[in-house]
Amino acid sequence: MHELVKDYYGNRLRSSKDLRTSACCDADAVPAWLRPLLARIHPEVLERYYGCGLVCPELLEGCRVLDLGCGAGRDVYALAQLVGPSGEVVGVDMTDEQLAVAQRHRAHHAEVFGFDNVRFLQGYIERLDELGLEAGSFDVVVSNCVVNLSPDKEAVLAGVRRLLKPGGEFHFSDVHADRRVPEAVRGDPVLYGECLGGALYWKDFLRVAQRCGFADPRLLADRPLAITDPDLERRAGGIAFHSATWRLFRLDGLEDACEDHGQAVVYRGSIAQHPHRLVFDKHHRMEAGRMFPVCGNTWRMLAQTRFAPHFDFHGDFSRHYGIFAGCGAVMPFDAPAADAKVGSCC
Ligand SMILES: C[S@@+](CC[C@H](N)C(=O)[O-])C[C@H]1O[C@@H](n2cnc3c(N)ncnc32)[C@H](O)[C@@H]1O
Repeated sequence: MHELVKDYYGNRLRSSKDLRTSACCDADAVPAWLRPLLARIHPEVLERYYGCGLVCPELLEGCRVLDLGCGAGRDVYALAQLVGPSGEVVGVDMTDEQLAVAQRHRAHHAEVFGFDNVRFLQGYIERLDELGLEAGSFDVVVSNCVVNLSPDKEAVLAGVRRLLKPGGEFHFSDVHADRRVPEAVRGDPVLYGECLGGALYWKDFLRVAQRCGFADPRLLADRPLAITDPDLERRAGGIAFHSATWRLFRLDGLEDACEDHGQAVVYRGSIAQHPHRLVFDKHHRMEAGRMFPVCGNTWRMLAQTRFAPHFDFHGDFSRHYGIFAGCGAVMPFDAPAADAKVGSCC
């Protein structure tokens, strides 16, 4: 699979226009605050963007960020501006041609930004321990449309957890299927290269995440993917695919369900791009200044991470009131909470 994928992204595709699905985010979906940052990125890097979601989380200034499967580096160069001169962004990819584009424009971006805070490593995302990166040394790990291409998703998630600091976040977009992808579809080289054949059934993804210590994955955004090529659509055998953006936190003490300890938070409105409302995930749209009841897991995701200074916290873990009322998972394909069992539900 590695050689097939290297050939696909190294030789077959020249730009995102060559893709045969709607995987690439359309430009209209990019938030207004991000557009000026993208406008400073070299056109050749932008042209070779093959991501399926947005991986620019809040509060990155000064952070150390790792981008898995960085490709030609669009997200690396966007994130470089968000972490600023005191932060660092490391991009990892296995394909020479993709990395060559990313490297070629490093000096250009250093000049435009006024600082050089990126580096690129060649390697495999399921073998992150071979890259000489220190365990527990990244605040945030991102990835955009790559995990599905890996032959060993569990090794990827385990490696990410090892590299994250306590309280760190794996913030990534990937493709999921509404069912387990049969071998005939998985083995189709174009479907695999287009990020469909290797996609995990969404519930199997939750199981893998939980096995790797990410007890409560939070869905931030998702959208159905259209297969624009009729022949490819036929070969995909009626499976529905979604692109989904997730937040997974490296936190001890997260539970496999949302438990009610009578806690609440108030968002201070202090994150520059979100003065009125912070959308933490699809189920948590928190208005500034307004009391927002939360389960114990959400409490930890806010109180024990880089989000803490932007919230006031009410309550603690001294009492338990049972399962969090109104529990309703927001999952890709609108799967119901009761069926989700593992994962986010408040
Ligand atoms: C769909 S592209 C996305 C690239 C980039 N994230 C972007 O948004 O433009 C997939 C990228 O992941 C890389 N890749 C796929 N599988 C990989 C693996 N197992 N290890 C390292 N890189 C991988 C490919 O070389 C390719 O550059």
